[in-house]
This record gives sequence, structure tokens and C-alpha cells, in this order.
Amino acid sequence: MEKVKVAVVGCGMISPVYLRNMKELFSILDVVAVSNRTRAKAEEAAKKFDIPKVLTLDEVAADPEIELVVNLTPTDVHAEIIRKMLLAGKHVYTEKTMTADIEDARELVKLADEKGLYLGCAPDTVLGASVQTARWAVDHGMIGTVTSCAVTINRNQALNSELFTFLRGNGGSLPYDVGIYYLAALLCVLGPVVKVTAFGAPMPVHQRQFMFREGDQESWQIPGNNLVSGSMMFANGAIGSIHMDGNTTGNERHLLRIYGTEGILEMGDPNKFGDPVKLFKPENPPCDLPLTHGYNGRGQGGTELGGGCRGAGVAEMAYAIRQGRPHRMSKEMAYHAMEVLHGFDVSAETGSVYTLESTFSMPPLKEGYYSTMWGGYARADAECSLME
Ligand SMILES: NC(=O)c1ccc[n+]([C@@H]2O[C@H](COP(=O)([O-])OP(=O)(O)OC[C@H]3O[C@@H](n4cnc5c(N)ncnc54)[C@H](O)[C@@H]3O)[C@@H](O)[C@H]2O)c1
Repeated sequence: MEKVKVAVVGCGMISPVYLRNMKELFSILDVVAVSNRTRAKAEEAAKKFDIPKVLTLDEVAADPEIELVVNLTPTDVHAEIIRKMLLAGKHVYTEKTMTADIEDARELVKLADEKGLYLGCAPDTVLGASVQTARWAVDHGMIGTVTSCAVTINRNQALNSELFTFLRGNGGSLPYDVGIYYLAALLCVLGPVVKVTAFGAPMPVHQRQFMFREGDQESWQIPGNNLVSGSMMFANGAIGSIHMDGNTTGNERHLLRIYGTEGILEMGDPNKFGDPVKLFKPENPPCDLPLTHGYNGRGQGGTELGGGCRGAGVAEMAYAIRQGRPHRMSKEMAYHAMEVLHGFDVSAETGSVYTLESTFSMPPLKEGYYSTMWGGYARADAECSLME
């Protein structure tokens, strides 16, 4: 199959993981260019990962060789970059969340449809071994009919935003920055949501405590609700509760549990690719399910890949482009996840139940392919699972 030529825009903190994986893990991808607002960072990435071209944004848009743009810029500039690249006729895969504003996301979904282009969105941890194993277990009736789910996630988002300055802008609140991983995992396993309600609270104004940079702000407040306690009704009839608290301390305690008529599944951290999936059945000791899929966040020799298998969503989309079929990390799913978060905000503000307008579908990856073989000393065939 002809490789898909890729340009990466945004050479910041998450870019080395993508560049490493796109060069080493996914043979369908050919990274030919990098671009960054400050050129020196793009030059550094090009040198480190042996990428032939360092381009400006306009040059990426105008380069006929480039078919797919991977957008790794901060969330509040996603919309302008996605729009520019779609208008230039490029397929786009963007880091989460698709945009910081739902109106922008709606416009971009429409634009991609009008142009007949693929638009994909992280988090592709849902293509990882853990979430796909949970999906397999639910689809195969291991916990019977799903009745409910529960999520809790906490961080000190104020302190995090001292270091990660992009968190201070739109899209930096805990539900949008981190809750989205939990939501995407639930959507992958349980399907679309039809109604939501929530209470919410903003982050109190934060006085800088630790990081001292020349000219930095003394105080700020991340926009939107940084604490949300919400309820969801899924189209399949399951009811879920989600608790995302970015106003507490940083010792992260997460929970992601799916309850059914015949058992309970406990998933690990959906920000990772290969956390255990625990099955609880009556009268049996709890057990870790064997992972049914590849992309478990480990590389050759079974070593933990920092940042996991990020880029799997780009590769799956590249195969879909070549095969002329829908891809899995779709704009419809990303928009739906954003509409759930938007619905929480609307409900928290108005005190009413929010009914979703959007929906999506996402087939599971085929099971039985693994990340490594021979005790973890060789790359195996996980890439085959992205091909159909
Ligand atoms: N850092 C993480 O651990 C992490 C993990 C998962 C996802 N993400 C997501 O990845 C994205 C990027 O995060 P990051 O941590 O790498 O951010 P970052 O701030 O470290 O890097 C972003 C890069 O984009 C560049 N940039 C900004 N505006 C630009 C523009 N208009 N044109 C070209 N380049 C531009 C910046 O110069 C910077 O080098 C965000 O959407 C974030 O939510 C980050």
C-alpha cells in the first residue's frame, strides 16, 4: 500500500512521541515535513527524527506532496490550523480536543464533509489494548447487559497550568483536558449519549505559587467549569455518572468502572494504552483479562513506550484513506464527545437536562493482533488490526 505523506504542525512537548511512533511503529506513514511557529523547534525535531523538510504553515498548505497534516498545537489554536489545512485540501488529524469551542468544531465537521476530506481526532488511547479489550468484553456479553458506569478523575489543574501554560486558555479545564480521555473510552465501549445533566464550578482565581518566568502572569483563571459532576443517559439505556475535579490536589485517583447484569469491569487509566482491565464476577476472585488487542504501550523487548502508542489513530486514518472507508477516530465521535462536555456546561448553567443532537458509530478493531511477539522481543502484527 502506498504510504501516506504526513506533515506535523506543532513541535512541542507531545510531538516526540508522535514523531517516534510515526517513524517506527506505523509503516503506512511517511513523515516528510515538520512545522512550528518558532522555526528552531521544527529544525530541532527534523534533525532528531530525520525529517526532510522544515516548512512554514503556508508552505505546508501549498505543498502538493503532503496529504495528511497532524496538528499538535495547543487546543486554542486547533480551529485556525484545521480550517487552513482543510481549505488547502489536506486531510487532518488533530490532538484533543478538536477545538476549544463547539461552534468551531461544528463548522469544521461541515467543512470536511463539503471538501470530502478526512478529519480525525485524539485521544487514540481508545484504539489501545485496554479500551479495545473492555469493548471486546462488553460486546461478548462478559458482564451481561450494561446497566451503568462511573468515572472519577482529579488533578490540581491550577498548579499544572503554572508549568503547562497552554492550560490557562480555552480547553485547559480538567473536563476538556483530561476528562476527554475518560469520555472517549466510555463512548468507545458503550456508544453514544442521548441526555446529560450536571453541576459545575469554575477554578478559583489562581495566584502563581512556584514557576517564576520573566514577564509571566501573577494570577489567572482557567476558563469554564474546572469541576463537573454529571450524569449521562446512553442510547443503549445505560446510565453513567462522571466526576471530574480539577480544583483539588494533584494526587490523581482515577476510577473507570462499567457495571452489568452479570459482572463488573474496572478499567485502568484511559490516558494509557495497556493498563489492566479487571473483571469481577459473582463467586470468583477478580481477575485481569488477557488483553485481546495490540497497542499495549510497549515496544521491542516489552519496554514501556513513554507516551504509549500515540499515532495509532493517525495510522488507522491513513489506512482508511487508502482503502476509501470510514476511519475510527472520527470527527463525528470527537464532536459528540465535545457536545457531551458542552451539555454538562449548559445543564450546570441552566439547571436543565441537555438533549444531544449528535451521534456517531465506531466499529471495534479486530482482535487477535498483538504489539509484540517472542516474549516481547519482536514487533508483531498489531498494524494489521488497523487495516480493516
Ligand atoms: N503535553 C502532553 O502531555 C499532551 C498529552 C496528550 C495530548 N496533548 C495535546 O497535544 C497538543 C499539544 O500539546 P503540547 O503539550 O505538545 O503543547 P506545547 O505547548 O508543548 O507545544 C505546542 C507547539 O505548537 C506550536 N504552535 C503554537 N501555535 C502554533 C501555530 N499557530 N502554528 C504552528 N505552531 C504553533 C508551539 O510553538 C509549540 O511548539 C494539545 O492539544 C494538548 O492537549 C498534550
